Amino acid sequence: TDAIRPLIAGNWKMNGLRAQAAEFDAMLDGAAEATGKADLLVCPPATLIAAFADKARGKKVAVGAQDCHPKASGAHTGDIAAELLVDAGASAIIVGHSERRADHCEDDALIRQKAEAAWRAGATAIVCIGETQAQRDAGQTLEILRGQLAGSLPESSTAANLVVAYEPVWAIGTGLTPTTQDVEQIHGFIREFLTSRFKADGARMRILYGGSVKPSNAAELMAVKNVNGALVGGASLKAADFLAIAKGCP
Ligand code: G3P
Repeated sequence: TDAIRPLIAGNWKMNGLRAQAAEFDAMLDGAAEATGKADLLVCPPATLIAAFADKARGKKVAVGAQDCHPKASGAHTGDIAAELLVDAGASAIIVGHSERRADHCEDDALIRQKAEAAWRAGATAIVCIGETQAQRDAGQTLEILRGQLAGSLPESSTAANLVVAYEPVWAIGTGLTPTTQDVEQIHGFIREFLTSRFKADGARMRILYGGSVKPSNAAELMAVKNVNGALVGGASLKAADFLAIAKGCP
């Protein structure tokens, strides 16, 4: 797995006024240097996807989305189909983020449909999994992750169309991170699941770590076995931090 090219993905969540697009311009400017070590993806709010994708054309930063509706079109007020996101310029779509699982009661079955919707539209799916603090305290981490993997990953997942992001819920936006030993154990567990279910593709699928990744801890986390990049929240809003994280990849 050491030869898997890392992916550093930024999840801007519900942040990003048009006035802040300058940070994205700075990411584009610094990308050539940072992509020596990793691929870069920025997932802004849906309102900025088209503008960012236009700016990024021919540059080394891909643009993605944070969620999609499972259907391709139709009477779903306020929702956005993967087809619309891809038409706006998204090449990857995050699905099943813990904030969506919690805020919108999304379950594994829906997340699997959303991943398939991303493929139908021609985008890569980034499927998020992760345990809560309470589940961790109860010693249920691996069992929860196994259930999320089994339920959220579609049958025809490949190394090209699917990325798994492990985000312990208690590490998101808290400044807390698991120890590198814990990350190694959990990513190893996810790798075993993927290889047993998807064989050679599972062995080559990217497994991102997410949760309080910042320039000061990126190099250590990215060096852990079976960590093939990061899904970055807060630190992805600043070009300098986001690029520094990419440069921290082995
Ligand atoms: O999807 C990324 C995320 O949930 C991690 O957020 O702010 O802890 O990097 P943050």
